[in-house]
Amino acid sequence: MSSALLAGRHVVVSAGPTYEDIDPVRFLGNRSSGKMGFAIAAAAAARGARVSLIAGPVALATPGPGSGSLARIDVRSAAQMHAAVIGALPADVYIGAAAVADYTPARVAAEKIKKGAGGDGLTLQLVRTRDILAELAIHPRRPGLVVGFAAETEDVERHARGKLAAKQLDLIAANRVGVAGSGFESDDNALVIYGSDLALPLGPASKHELASQLLDLICQRLPAAARATDSAR
Ligand code: PMT
Repeated sequence: MSSALLAGRHVVVSAGPTYEDIDPVRFLGNRSSGKMGFAIAAAAAARGARVSLIAGPVALATPGPGSGSLARIDVRSAAQMHAAVIGALPADVYIGAAAVADYTPARVAAEKIKKGAGGDGLTLQLVRTRDILAELAIHPRRPGLVVGFAAETEDVERHARGKLAAKQLDLIAANRVGVAGSGFESDDNALVIYGSDLALPLGPASKHELASQLLDLICQRLPAAARATDSAR
């Protein structure tokens, strides 16, 4: 691996969960630890990229800058992650490894919701969040390569290929979640990278090894066209 393959390239990586507040003490979250996304950010920096790491609430140290540079932007909610990702453009590559909430409470209660407020149960009204990945893929400043992840519990290939097409992605990294030793929280994972012309199994291996292999593929596929940052500066 050359440490300069991504020199001069801006790579934006999202990682970790989002927390959607219900009231001042409660939120809706998920099991993402950020390990996969942080490993990807480190692998991009190791190849010389300028990396913007948009991190949800995680308990991980910021990766070193490798031979490039790495700026971490911490966010909490899906809306904040959306704003941070769009704010990081222009970019050559976007890799969406974050587990972004699909739904958020319609309202955040100003005070702690009391037991009994809803009788024996409590009904929360949820509304859809904006799909960061799908918006980026059709954005006027679309990165040259847009790479998504698909976290699936069953029928992994069908769902991943569905997201690849529906969100107009260049590549999607599919992983099985809900099983021990891969997906959320684990140090290891197994991926299959799908593209219109590709089905490439990677691993099982450590998330660091998988991130390295994914970045090698991205380096091969990154359009040789003008860098995103050239036209915008
Ligand atoms: O963080 P770890 O503990 O290491 O776990 C890693 C991981 C399992 C979280 C990671 O490998 C992974 O699969 N990340 C994507 C999780 C996910 O939300 O998948 P999805 O199939 O629901 O979403 C598909 C894609 O759309 C993802 O790239 C996601 O970032 C993106 N998305 C989803 C919703 C939304 N509102 N905006 C988005 O950009």
